[in-house]
Amino acid sequence: MKLVSGAVVLCLWAATLAAAPEKSPPAATNEDCLTCHEDPAAKRANGTSVFVEKGKFSASVHGEAGLGCVDCHTDLAKTKDFPHPEKLAPAQCSGCHDDAVSAYSAGVHAQARQKSTGSQAATCVSCHGDPHSIVPRTNPASPISQEELFGPAVAVSTAADWHEAIQQANGTAYGLGAGIFTSDVAGAVRAIREIDAGSIHINWTPLWRADLMPYGGLKGSGIGKEGPRSAVAEMTDVKTIVLHGRPW
Ligand code: HEC
Ligand code: HEC
Ligand code: HEC
Ligand code: HEC
Repeated sequence: MKLVSGAVVLCLWAATLAAAPEKSPPAATNEDCLTCHEDPAAKRANGTSVFVEKGKFSASVHGEAGLGCVDCHTDLAKTKDFPHPEKLAPAQCSGCHDDAVSAYSAGVHAQARQKSTGSQAATCVSCHGDPHSIVPRTNPASPISQEELFGPAVAVSTAADWHEAIQQANGTAYGLGAGIFTSDVAGAVRAIREIDAGSIHINWTPLWRADLMPYGGLKGSGIGKEGPRSAVAEMTDVKTIVLHGRPW
């Protein structure tokens, strides 16, 4: 008899717990965070900026997907207690991008960073851009299209016509080479005239070169031209010597 009443008491206690769970505050909304962070003058105690541009975030792939600030800044997920601590844990990309995070962790960039805290090896934001304005990898504004990758990757984006394609090709700070695949000869000639790149290939990629070609980029892609003849020319100062007759 005693045993049974003991069991009843336990059940009641469990029921009370379920009926009144400990209250956790609702997650902070983006508006909560932006109350302070959308102010361009928002700064850390050491003077560095903590400004987050609301418009840029809304237009980013994450803003459009409806992410909350606290989806990445996870240690603030359960707080409405502001101001929050000065030091926060690094933002998290895992949970949503497990494949990309584990591929990155296994790669040379993460390993270089583990070996040395001063490492300059690429992080997610080096390749995908400011964390609050990340755009899809197919967007020509992505650093994947804007920077000189020099890695085994191809940036693919679409263009409606020659005008837009040429604009995209010229829409970076660099101009080493361009490859144009087309059977439209007039279009190819237009691209040759208008694309600011050091070498232009019709129906092949700009990876092809021969030593006799002057090789080198325009804009941010290097200075001058290489290739034996061009390199000699680059390293030569031309002096004009004129020997006249007697000075008197
Ligand atoms: C009451 C104003 C206020 C609110 C609200 C606020 N912050 Fe901050 N936040 C600050 C200030 C001030 C700093 C700079 C702290 C310091 O002096 O280093 C800061 C710093 C940060 C940092 C940098 C932390 C670091 O380790 O360097 C992050 C990330 C951040 N806030 C995210 C958020 C998020 C996400 C929210 C919403 C959940 C939020 N903040 C809400 C004022 C605020
Ligand atoms: C896609 C993930 C992601 C989202 C969403 C996100 N952040 Fe961040 N945020 C980061 C990363 C990555 C950093 C770089 C430092 C770090 O790891 O904490 C950062 C840094 C910051 C900093 C420090 C600023 C600096 O330049 O050092 C502040 C402040 C901040 N975030 C506030 C916000 C606010 C406010 C929102 C919502 C409007 C937000 N973040 C949404 C990923 C995110
Ligand atoms: C809460 C979930 C979540 C977190 C955390 C998150 N993302 Fe995302 N991310 C998304 C969603 C949703 C999309 C849009 C759909 C897609 O492409 O998967 C996206 C898209 C992206 C894209 C574009 C992919 C493409 O299509 O080219 C990149 C790059 C990216 N995220 C990087 C990051 C980085 C870097 C972090 C950490 C700083 C991060 N994300 C944190 C949910 C998240
Ligand atoms: C060295 C440059 C580089 C770094 C560092 C990098 N990425 Fe990427 N990322 C790329 C490139 C290039 C692509 C496009 C690859 C493709 O389409 O096959 C990509 C694709 C993606 C995609 C879309 C494809 C997918 O796997 O879902 C996401 C999401 C993403 N990266 C997130 C991240 C996150 C999170 C980190 C950090 C943990 C990171 N990236 C670090 C260059 C980088």
